[in-house]
Amino acid sequence: MENFEFESPTHFAFGRESEKRTGELVKAFGGTRVLLHFGGGSIKRTGVYGKVVASLEAAGVWFVPLGGVKPNPREALVREGIGLARREKIDFILAVGGGSVVDSAKAIACGALHDGDFRDFTFGKDCKNPPVVKSALPIGVVLTIAAAGSEGSCNCVISLEPDNLKRTITGDRLRPRFAVMNPEFTFTLPPYQTACGLVDIFAHVVERYFTPSRDVRATDELCEAVMRTVVAESAAVMKDPSDYSARANIMWAGTLAHNNVCGVGRVQDWSSHGIEHELSALYDCAHGAGLAVVMPAWMEYVMPSGVSRFARFAEKVWGVAPGDEASMAREGLSRYRAWLKSIGMPATFAELGAKEEDIPLLARNLGLKDGQTLGSFRKLATADVEAIFRLCV
Ligand code: NZQ
Ligand code: ZN
Repeated sequence: MENFEFESPTHFAFGRESEKRTGELVKAFGGTRVLLHFGGGSIKRTGVYGKVVASLEAAGVWFVPLGGVKPNPREALVREGIGLARREKIDFILAVGGGSVVDSAKAIACGALHDGDFRDFTFGKDCKNPPVVKSALPIGVVLTIAAAGSEGSCNCVISLEPDNLKRTITGDRLRPRFAVMNPEFTFTLPPYQTACGLVDIFAHVVERYFTPSRDVRATDELCEAVMRTVVAESAAVMKDPSDYSARANIMWAGTLAHNNVCGVGRVQDWSSHGIEHELSALYDCAHGAGLAVVMPAWMEYVMPSGVSRFARFAEKVWGVAPGDEASMAREGLSRYRAWLKSIGMPATFAELGAKEEDIPLLARNLGLKDGQTLGSFRKLATADVEAIFRLCV
């Protein structure tokens, strides 16, 4: 097992009516002047906004709203938020929504305390020593979609305009102080968004599970448990969007998949995320849908470099009977693809709205310079990334 340091300071308030705790939690974590950040209006339609505001008012917490975060959050609103936070002397940011809202809040939180531009903290896939955020306004989250895991993670992803690039910011200072997670808030998700969330949660584990590190049994077993849970609960939630038990298990799996409890002590991969981010940056598709196309293609491409691990994945996650490793590995991938199809996810570039002729541009946008590679399970150069994109076609 590799050496590691792990900090996960987030306080989780989970379950029915947990949103009633919001105001008290903001106060407990020092918030007195709050920026209330949200997306395109779903929280107003579903009544979540009113419930959160009621909790803030009951606790006597002052706030100013800033809505309008788009999926694949844009830098323009981040800049607006930074200006607002400085003008209003904001001391706490409350994000109500999904990964896009939380990520936008995180970028505002670090930008507001930084003398320069928030872009100083963004980095691409070619960066081996990313700039790390050392100070940020505290953030709280009221989560409305189980997917990105940003409620417990140390990073955010922002779409930079006009470059059509998605770039990451990282640092433990970005981990939310608290996350309120009421699974009932996810009942209103359309089936497509629910499925995109399932894919993303599963993918966060895959990125950690496919590792060159040895002797990481504790986290291997955790990873497998989270992946099996996501698959097992997916049928129930696709059949009945108001299945509390399925929604609750998926929601908590989403946090476990990405707060890094499954990833410590091992070298992680993250190729599929790197590759997908260029798709959602260029075509504005949903991140989970992009992963549904990219990740099986990545698996197909790298499988020959690590057949044993794929055989274990097949047995432990997909219940493939032990036997010849290469056949097991292929069967595991085929069951993964079948699962993605069963929850209504796209399988090809065309279904995603992506174009074959853009492949060289997409691969270039990753920014890998000569000799630089992506991932660790198998190190990928730009030509490998192009080959993976071609498998997506
Ligand atoms: O905009 P609103 O009105 O809020 O609608 C959203 C949005 O259209 C809607 N929605 C959310 N909760 C709902 C709901 N609709 C009905 N009922 C509800 N309860 O769902 C749509 C998608 O929301 P979004 O926040 O974009 O989804 P998600 O949580 O999947 O976040 C995706 C973003 O997270 C980034 C992705 O790249 C993408 O930009 N990621 C962030 C990570 C992190 N910070 O650690 C890691 C991930 O790998 C990922 O890259
Ligand atoms: Zn993801």
